[in-house]
Amino acid sequence: MRVLFLGAPGAGKGTQAALLARRLGVPHLSTGDLFRQAVREGTPLGREAQAYMDRGELVPDAVVVGMVRERLQGETGFVLDGFPRTLPQARALEEELAVLAAPLDAAVLLEVPEELILRRLTARRLCRSCGAVYHLEFHPPRIPGRCDRCGGELYQRDDDREETVRRRLEVYRQETAPVAQFYRDRGLLRQVDGTGSEEEVSHRVASALGR
Ligand code: AP5
Repeated sequence: MRVLFLGAPGAGKGTQAALLARRLGVPHLSTGDLFRQAVREGTPLGREAQAYMDRGELVPDAVVVGMVRERLQGETGFVLDGFPRTLPQARALEEELAVLAAPLDAAVLLEVPEELILRRLTARRLCRSCGAVYHLEFHPPRIPGRCDRCGGELYQRDDDREETVRRRLEVYRQETAPVAQFYRDRGLLRQVDGTGSEEEVSHRVASALGR
């Protein structure tokens, strides 16, 4: 199955994409995670992406599309998270999947009000070693500051500061919201209420996908 997640920063795309990919047994491809890994490793891609990410702006389309195209080679199923984020990215993905003769099955739009998004992002923590995602209130680690899975150190993303979150939300409204219409026009959009517990949202996603 080939599915992608749309939604504002903090809507729960990463959380739900990871759950769904595990259930389907397909790779979870997150452009945000790929950029953060490149930044950590200090690669040319990471150096280019970092300035945009720190400001809450989008990395240029050509850079993102090239990276995703490379990752999709040889994959028959996937769950994409954080891509596409602009109409040119959506068109590039459609063309690439046509070449691979592997059309998209669904685009899931997670809908969450902005006041909840701010609460989710400012208390999000990630594991430095394995990337697992926590929330100080909604999904706290068993030992404060340590990952349940691997014991790694938890940290806060630089772009989760309130001012940067507000900029990311603005960019989302301008650049990414129109992408939902692109998929609606193709009959692929599945709108899902992203509020409630992770399990509740996961059930809604499964039923929107008919699984
Ligand atoms: P990216 O990492 O993709 O950031 P984002 O889209 O802003 O999304 P987030 O990761 O902030 O949120 P999410 O929706 O995945 O929520 P999560 O599941 O973590 O991108 C970062 C940057 O990279 C961009 O700003 C841009 O610069 C660049 N970039 C990436 N892709 C790009 C592209 N295609 N084009 C151009 N530039 C690109 O959940 C958030 C928190 O809420 C967590 O703490 C979680 O535990 C908690 N939570 C989740 N679900 C629930 C629930 N149901 N109940 C309670 N808490 C919950």
